Amino acid sequence: MKKLMILFVALTLVTFAAMTAIADNKDKGPTEVKLPARMGEVTFQHAKHQERVEDCTTCHHAGVEAGACRSCHGEKAEAPKAKKVFHKLCRSCHKGNAGPTKCKACHTK
Ligand code: HEC
Ligand code: HEC
Ligand code: HEC
Ligand code: HEC
Repeated sequence: MKKLMILFVALTLVTFAAMTAIADNKDKGPTEVKLPARMGEVTFQHAKHQERVEDCTTCHHAGVEAGACRSCHGEKAEAPKAKKVFHKLCRSCHKGNAGPTKCKACHTK
């Protein structure tokens, strides 16, 4: 009986490890994203930000699988406009972390 328990626990651990490995390998998305704006295009270093910000859902609040921000923001009535949410999210973190907050540090022509 004890041996069976040990086998069961071992199998559970192996399954769990396999699931974590799959989660780690899932699509990390683009290295760089160009966000067009009339003020000038914003080049967003996605991979660098993934290193800086541990939790994906800090930005992908709807979940990574929900896809591009603009699939809701600017599309769906219940989602605030893209400009508003990007400015809010990007600048509020930068203010506390020495990231760029001046218009031309993000918007370049
Ligand atoms: C600092 C904010 C931020 C963090 C942290 C972040 N992302 Fe993103 N991610 C973005 C933005 C902005 C885009 C561009 C979305 C768009 O084009 O609307 C994006 C795009 C993506 C896309 C492509 C989505 C699509 O369908 O176009 C994937 C996949 C993705 N991210 C995965 C991740 C994963 C996985 C993590 C965590 C390891 C992560 N991201 C962390 C901001 C972030
Ligand atoms: C931290 C980076 C960042 C800073 C700083 C910033 N912006 Fe933005 N801004 C963005 C992003 C990202 C978007 C969204 C682009 C999109 O809609 O895909 C945006 C969108 C906009 C838009 C709407 C898009 C358009 O086509 O008109 C305007 C206007 C704008 N910003 C003006 C400003 C002004 C003025 C400042 C300085 C007071 C500023 N921004 C500072 C990142 C920034
Ligand atoms: C599936 C739809 C969906 C996707 C995808 C999505 N959002 Fe949102 N987002 C919403 C809705 C709806 C709200 C308003 C309700 C709420 O606060 O949850 C919101 C609210 C926000 C807010 C808070 C705005 C405020 O005024 O407090 C921020 C910031 C934000 N989103 C940023 C993003 C970013 C950045 C992305 C892409 C990485 C993204 N969202 C992807 C639907 C979405
Ligand atoms: C949770 C924190 C956080 C969020 C959210 C965030 N950033 Fe940053 N960002 C940083 C930090 C930290 C730096 C680096 C500051 C330094 O050490 O130079 C940075 C640097 C940058 C830079 C300078 C170039 C680079 O990558 O080194 C740009 C441009 C930038 N961010 C754009 C954005 C945009 C656009 C968004 C929103 C889509 C965003 N950031 C969201 C933390 C954040």
